[in-house]
Amino acid sequence: MTYNYKGMNIIIRDTYEDVSKKAAQLIAAQVTLNTKSVLGLATGSTPEGTYKNLIEMYKNDIVDFQDVVTFNLDEYLDLGAENEQSYAYYMNKHLFDHVNINRENIHIPNGCTEDREKTCEEYDNMIFNYGKIDLQLLGIGTNGHIGFNEPDVHFEAGTHVVELDDETISANARFFDDISDVPTKAISMGIRNIMQSKKVLLLATGAKKIDAVHKMLFEEITPNLPASILQVHNDVTIIVDKVIGDMIINKLDKK
Ligand code: F6R
Repeated sequence: MTYNYKGMNIIIRDTYEDVSKKAAQLIAAQVTLNTKSVLGLATGSTPEGTYKNLIEMYKNDIVDFQDVVTFNLDEYLDLGAENEQSYAYYMNKHLFDHVNINRENIHIPNGCTEDREKTCEEYDNMIFNYGKIDLQLLGIGTNGHIGFNEPDVHFEAGTHVVELDDETISANARFFDDISDVPTKAISMGIRNIMQSKKVLLLATGAKKIDAVHKMLFEEITPNLPASILQVHNDVTIIVDKVIGDMIINKLDKK
């Protein structure tokens, strides 16, 4: 089922697998229509299935990454690419090692930089030099964050160093041996970078995300719920599973 609400396309699929498949199809369509597409990529549990589908499509000659350029949303501070918890490691494992992307076209913030301010500025400049991100893939935090733009965000910020919210640290603790191992800081693209991208594709699945998606769609735009700013982006597609979809249908029926 597909809805249009406040100009946002909302696609509802039954399961996580169906959501992943649809997201991969939309990304593959973007890359096929423009082989030099600039993709903004996310990490976390949500896009794993999407990347799996994209790898499968690549192996079946449905999509070609040769000229694709990527910019990842974020990276933990002080974790190098060889560290299994870093997002650079994640991206190699879940996508880059399995497709024909040109390594020179991959961009991930350098969390081990000596000069953080310069690294952030250079990241913004690199994005700017490519024009705009054609399609930005996003997950959403239970607190409504996108990228690592936590509640009380400055909507106008570009790439910057962020202090992670307690909620984010406990949500991400599942990837670490101990919660005390979760980095407390990261470099993240800002809301400005996300809002400047031509298309946004946000995925959300599972009951834990119902509240954040509800606030993102149906409540006022506020820095306390960073994803709410997407209400005013002019090309947003949101794909959700049935558990979140039921909440959305219920809410729209009452309007
Ligand atoms: C990841 C990112 C985060 C995640 C969000 C949801 O690069 O920027 O905003 O998308 O924390 O994470 P999962 O998918 O693990 O629930």
